[in-house]
Amino acid sequence: MSAGRSSARFRGKVAIVTGGGSGIGEAAARRLALEGAYVVVADVADDAGEAVASNIGGQFVHLDVGNAAEWAKVVDEVESTRGGIDLAHLNAGIALGAYPVVVEELTDAEYERIMSVNADGVFHGIRAVVPSMKRRGGGAIVVTSSLAGVGPHPDDPIYAATKHFVIGLVRSLGCPFKEHGITVNAVCPGAVDTPLLDATGRRDAIEARRRPLMIGDDIAEAVTMLLAGSETGHVYTVMSGRGAERYEFPGIPGMPST
Ligand SMILES: NC(=O)c1ccc[n+]([C@@H]2O[C@H](COP(=O)([O-])OP(=O)(O)OC[C@H]3O[C@@H](n4cnc5c(N)ncnc54)[C@H](O)[C@@H]3O)[C@@H](O)[C@H]2O)c1
Repeated sequence: MSAGRSSARFRGKVAIVTGGGSGIGEAAARRLALEGAYVVVADVADDAGEAVASNIGGQFVHLDVGNAAEWAKVVDEVESTRGGIDLAHLNAGIALGAYPVVVEELTDAEYERIMSVNADGVFHGIRAVVPSMKRRGGGAIVVTSSLAGVGPHPDDPIYAATKHFVIGLVRSLGCPFKEHGITVNAVCPGAVDTPLLDATGRRDAIEARRRPLMIGDDIAEAVTMLLAGSETGHVYTVMSGRGAERYEFPGIPGMPST
């Protein structure tokens, strides 16, 4: 997508991108700014977040997405300086460490940490930004899940559980948010070349597979497509060589489709 073709799509919009200091979030923040949005880069990594924000003419805020009080403070600050939030890419996420993650060996601290960032972080984010979007008369949210959010991930079952959690939220909130003009969707990337891959200790194995790694821009393309569009409650896989594809969940036997 060239800057010229789409440079005005988000003009006048205020966007927040969590985990915007690196990887997929950084790419999405850059793309949103390129397309006219004022971008609030939210991250726990201050130097990386500051660098991205200053590079795109946006603003950095220190935010631990798992902390509800910090979310409230950030939204208040953006409302008072920018008038509100129109777009949110709830993207911050972590992997626990070297694969395989053995469930029965996990410490309480490890379990709580990944639940706090990957699951609670998305809940707190939605709860914090939606009132602001309602006051603006609408908005759009995209959550970064994973292929591990729609299928099993034996190497890291807890990561998979957190990514399924956010899919449940997105699919369930699409309908109730509609009357407020708010869309909510999820992207489920395959392997993307970011520092998160190093945390798994499996970069070599992942790189050795037939599909080349994607880059953050590949996911940012899908994120901005969903932030600009009107569909809601949907889940898109994004895979190397295939791009973004809507994932159709099988119906529940005996239940009418919703
Ligand atoms: N890289 C992949 O292959 C891949 C595949 C599927 C999904 N994902 C998901 O994409 C998202 C982004 O990951 P990435 O690959 O760009 O990784 P990354 O490590 O490059 O970026 C993650 C960012 O989130 C920030 N962060 C971590 N904890 C935070 C917290 N508590 N509050 C705020 N910010 C926090 C980090 O400082 C970092 O800047 C994650 O949700 C991840 O699970 C990644």
